[in-house]
Amino acid sequence: MGSRVMKLSQKLPFLATFLCICLNTATITIASSANERQVYIVYMGEVQEERTILMDAHHSLLTETIGDEKIARDSKIHSYGRSFNGFAARLLPHEAELLSKKEGVISVFPNRVQHLLTTRSWDFIGVRKELKRNYLIESNIIVGLLDTGVWIESKSFNDKGLGPPPRKWKGTCVKGVNFTGCNKKVIGAQYFDINQRITPEEATPVDTEGHGTHTASTAAGIAVEGASLYGIGEGTARGGVPSARIASYKVCWGIGCEDVNILAGFDAAIDDGVDIISASIGGMARSLTQDPIAIGSFHAAKKGILTVCAGGNEGPDMETIQNVAPWILTVAASTTDRRLEAIVKLGNGDTISGMAINTYEPQKEFYPLTSGAHAGNVSGDILGNVSACDIGTLSADKVKGKIVFCQGAGSETIIQDLGGIGTIMTYNDNPDFAAAPATMGSYVSFGGGQRIEKYINSTSSAQAVIYKTRAVNAVGPAIASFSSRGPQALCPAILKPDLAAPGVNILAAYSGLTTLTGQEDDQRVVDYNIASGTSMACPHVSGAAAFVKSFHPNWSPAAIKSALMTTTKRMKIKPVGAELASGSGLIRPMAALHPGLVYDVDTTSYLSYLCKQGYKDSDIALLMGSKSFNCSNIPQAKGADGLNYPSMHVQVNSTESTISATFYREVTNVGFPISVYKATVKPPKGLSISVTPDILIFNHLYQKLCFKVTVTGGFSLRKSWYLSGSLTWTDFRHRVRSPIFVSPYTTLYS
Ligand SMILES: *[C@@H]1O[C@H](CO)[C@@H](O)[C@H](O)[C@H]1NC(C)=O
Ligand SMILES: *[C@@H]1O[C@H](CO)[C@@H](O)[C@H](O)[C@H]1NC(C)=O
Ligand SMILES: *[C@@H]1O[C@H](CO)[C@@H](O)[C@H](O)[C@H]1NC(C)=O
Ligand SMILES: *[C@@H]1O[C@H](CO)[C@@H](O)[C@H](O)[C@H]1NC(C)=O
Ligand SMILES: *[C@@H]1O[C@H](CO)[C@@H](O)[C@H](O)[C@H]1NC(C)=O
Ligand SMILES: *[C@@H]1O[C@H](CO)[C@@H](O)[C@H](O)[C@H]1NC(C)=O
Repeated sequence: MGSRVMKLSQKLPFLATFLCICLNTATITIASSANERQVYIVYMGEVQEERTILMDAHHSLLTETIGDEKIARDSKIHSYGRSFNGFAARLLPHEAELLSKKEGVISVFPNRVQHLLTTRSWDFIGVRKELKRNYLIESNIIVGLLDTGVWIESKSFNDKGLGPPPRKWKGTCVKGVNFTGCNKKVIGAQYFDINQRITPEEATPVDTEGHGTHTASTAAGIAVEGASLYGIGEGTARGGVPSARIASYKVCWGIGCEDVNILAGFDAAIDDGVDIISASIGGMARSLTQDPIAIGSFHAAKKGILTVCAGGNEGPDMETIQNVAPWILTVAASTTDRRLEAIVKLGNGDTISGMAINTYEPQKEFYPLTSGAHAGNVSGDILGNVSACDIGTLSADKVKGKIVFCQGAGSETIIQDLGGIGTIMTYNDNPDFAAAPATMGSYVSFGGGQRIEKYINSTSSAQAVIYKTRAVNAVGPAIASFSSRGPQALCPAILKPDLAAPGVNILAAYSGLTTLTGQEDDQRVVDYNIASGTSMACPHVSGAAAFVKSFHPNWSPAAIKSALMTTTKRMKIKPVGAELASGSGLIRPMAALHPGLVYDVDTTSYLSYLCKQGYKDSDIALLMGSKSFNCSNIPQAKGADGLNYPSMHVQVNSTESTISATFYREVTNVGFPISVYKATVKPPKGLSISVTPDILIFNHLYQKLCFKVTVTGGFSLRKSWYLSGSLTWTDFRHRVRSPIFVSPYTTLYS
């Protein structure tokens, strides 16, 4: 724990500029003591009564627990009840404990704060602008985003040519400061502040952070020609489904995204009639019945709504993946074929390639250059690392008016505050994404940094210039280093992330109520901004899912997910992780329109899965909204994972040397009515895979056929800590690929 916290805080300044509010740090618990009331969520499963009856029931439950009617009334802060049953209340720890044992209660958990975790990007994954679309159906699709709100003034949300909202839409549009109403593109906007943290002036659905505008336009923004950030990354900015509608649920504020608000967002979105829910939010993994995103997305899935989530930005460390519930589509971030380069030129003519979003065009040929090592404050008591330009170590008069070179990153604002005009920093890990320093600046490799230092040391009049960023071609795609990796401990047999989508240097619409860097003294207010994170990858998949749905309106959430997963492109992974970093691979939305076969999952299958996972009959009954439930009365989940998942994963004990695992699967024919599919396996080294039957003969559409996959053999996970193989079903037209992945149980490699 200690070392993890250290690591985060060391990384923080660097990442903070990179991912700004998309940064996905550890979950914060609001501190409490035994006699201090704290907000808890009491989760009670499916809605079984009318809202008024339900509210009375919440009240009686609280009175019964607390023992005082008035305190009980004051303690309740919100009743959910449109899409699931539950409430939020201020409780003492022992009251929370008591409540968790009451009949009808599935779980009681403290309210925590979670965090928010393009132009070329859609072309990159094969969705061309000129594509023939199902406009009529697409314009009936509503993508709901749980985020920081939306800045409707953006050109990306112009509603020209769109008809009135789809008839099924039941949502509302709340007005507020800087938000005068919705249009036919952004048809819904609400904000949730259950815990009453904001001031009345802040009570508005408008996006003051930029994140929500960025994600919404990536998923469903219209095409806007000539969009760029100061000319960087110029092209047509557009979402995956330009005719679809956007419903914005503001659940994240300055401090982050509180559980109580996330649940309120789901409660509303599901009932309002959205088709896809996109949540670029994450936090520490928690049990499925104590995680607001797992709870909300379960109720969404039951109503036929797919929830797409960011997988987290804590890579390349293993076991960092978030939002792992099997009904969620969990997204990793990949690079594209574009790199943002900000070149540094030294007074001696040497040029060093750097990476950054540097919007400043140099006004002079050269500027004076110094380094932290040469600008130390010799008269002060220096505590800290002067070469790294730590706070308090530099002398303002040696920095003023100069470009300053520092080892490591994170001191950009310190230099700026001391009057420096530019920064050159070295990056620590694998820099596959570009940060935006507030002043002129770039990030160079360690080797590049050495060259700069040597030059500074060699002359008394060092000088340098940093050129404005330009986009250059790069080899892609690769999984971004920051993208969280599996395996996961919560549902260990399910391979997560599920797939990857572009999440690096993504240009998309931004809010006019913030600045490029989010810093107040930054003068740059931008219509389009470049951001990186699994936050940016997530809405690409939400858009792709909506796109698939516009061609197949009746497909279940699991079928859409399967179509996206089995048609991906395999990826190179750096530095580590294989399928634990990429899942099935990079999305190819065009291929997902015609997957051939899908691995479907209905609600009953999720329930047998939960039975197998050891969830109590009574809790499952509440999830379903039925009087009673008996795991023995539904088909038992079979096999190594117990779910008809489009990928296969087995975690084994690293002390063992043989493996034998069986997966039971069922595929539904969505290709040609009469078709024959043949299985091809690529077994991992040392293992053998058998598929029975290995030929599937379909004679009508939507026909379902079963098969089983057995993985056996001897192996050593000590030699290679994972084993990677695949199964592909092919007819003459389709390729339906599932990774088969073997990894060890524990923390072998951390
Ligand atoms: C509303 O817009 C004004 C002017 O841009 C800005 O100063 C203010 O902070 C905004 N308030 C909110 C809550 O968005
Ligand atoms: C050097 O440090 C001292 C003490 O910390 C401080 O008072 C002084 O202003 C610093 N000098 C410069 C030039 O920054
Ligand atoms: C100062 O920081 C740099 C960059 O993080 C590091 O390489 C160097 O070893 C540090 N120096 C000291 C004396 O701690
Ligand atoms: C440059 O000079 C500084 C300060 O004297 C020293 O710490 C550093 O190691 C030198 N770097 C190189 C690459 O020569
Ligand atoms: C569940 O069903 C099985 C078989 O139908 C039965 O034996 C068992 O008693 C039931 N359990 C409960 C708690 O009703
Ligand atoms: C792995 O095997 C060891 C030794 O046989 C055993 O102690 C341990 O409990 C096993 N771990 C798991 C997760 O099965």
